[in-house]
Amino acid sequence: MSRRKIALVGAGNIGGTLAHLAGLKELGDIVLFDIVDGVPQGKALDIAQSSPVAGFDAKLTGGSDYSAIKGADVIIVTAGVPRQPGMSRDDLLSVNLGVIAKVGAGIKRYAPSAFVICITNPLDVMVWALQKASGLPTQRIVGMAGMLDSSRFRYFLAEELNVSVEDVSAFVLGGHGDDMVPSVRYSTVAGVPLPDLVAMGWTTQARIDAIVERTRKGGGEIVGLLKTGSAYYAPATAAIAMAESYLKDKRRVMPCAAYLSGQYGVNGLYVGVPVVIGANGVERVMEIKLDAAERAMFEKSVASVRALLEAAKALDPAFA
Ligand code: APR
Repeated sequence: MSRRKIALVGAGNIGGTLAHLAGLKELGDIVLFDIVDGVPQGKALDIAQSSPVAGFDAKLTGGSDYSAIKGADVIIVTAGVPRQPGMSRDDLLSVNLGVIAKVGAGIKRYAPSAFVICITNPLDVMVWALQKASGLPTQRIVGMAGMLDSSRFRYFLAEELNVSVEDVSAFVLGGHGDDMVPSVRYSTVAGVPLPDLVAMGWTTQARIDAIVERTRKGGGEIVGLLKTGSAYYAPATAAIAMAESYLKDKRRVMPCAAYLSGQYGVNGLYVGVPVVIGANGVERVMEIKLDAAERAMFEKSVASVRALLEAAKALDPAFA
């Protein structure tokens, strides 16, 4: 059986880390693509030179022509620019929409059978635009945000409760960061819900609230420390877990920005919800019954995705 092919569109901080992780996990052969010629080739060669010592077999290549992604099984998109000082939200939206339109056309032409994971921000709108531009079925394009938020949440909870990160499971919905909707009652330690742990005296509601707040601002905390960039190890790790679930048909239940067609009362938008990821992409959306507070937060999150989508349509008539 030949190896699967993983194409990484964008060979920046996240793209390079994705390539390294995909190699270490032997997910398949890896292609890095970027508009800056030399960078994808250089990162591919550097990682390939680590493979004898790390002990993995994978072909790593880099390119700046879309033909490089031909026939890819999985594509992870990080291409775009970050928000720079002085740049308005609409400026960022406009630039990254242009990038995504090109990436979508490249996928349509060279890898229409791929499973695609979008990471480029603003996530919920970029994944929507990528689906439009590529024409791929909606269940084969998802956005990565919830896996990162839930991983941050799990890490902070494990620290607080002094237990293994492996035994903490967190349930989040909604958009990325500030719009995240944590479901505290569905977040557990070894199956025991957080409210029970509060009742058992393991922690307090105030400390849980503070952890939720820190999780929401998790991206900003890293930017504040790095100063010249944003997080990349945790985002890349989260996206690789999604790719692995698809490639190995693991059917893991993961919070992803997924296309909703009526679930949670939402139609025609990409919103963060728990989904089953298997060999067909999004196999199923898990629709839980929200309580009043969760419903209010979720609707606020959906409203902000919708507002950004309208701004995107106004900026680029191709997406209207
Ligand atoms: N086609 C391909 N690559 C592009 C294009 C394009 N049209 N435009 C920009 N790029 C490349 C840049 O050359 C750069 O190498 O995208 C890469 C982005 O990498 P970084 O700037 O290092 O950003 P990174 O930290 O990897 O984050 C990427 O993910 O979390 C989001 O907000 C973040 O949108 C950003 C994305």
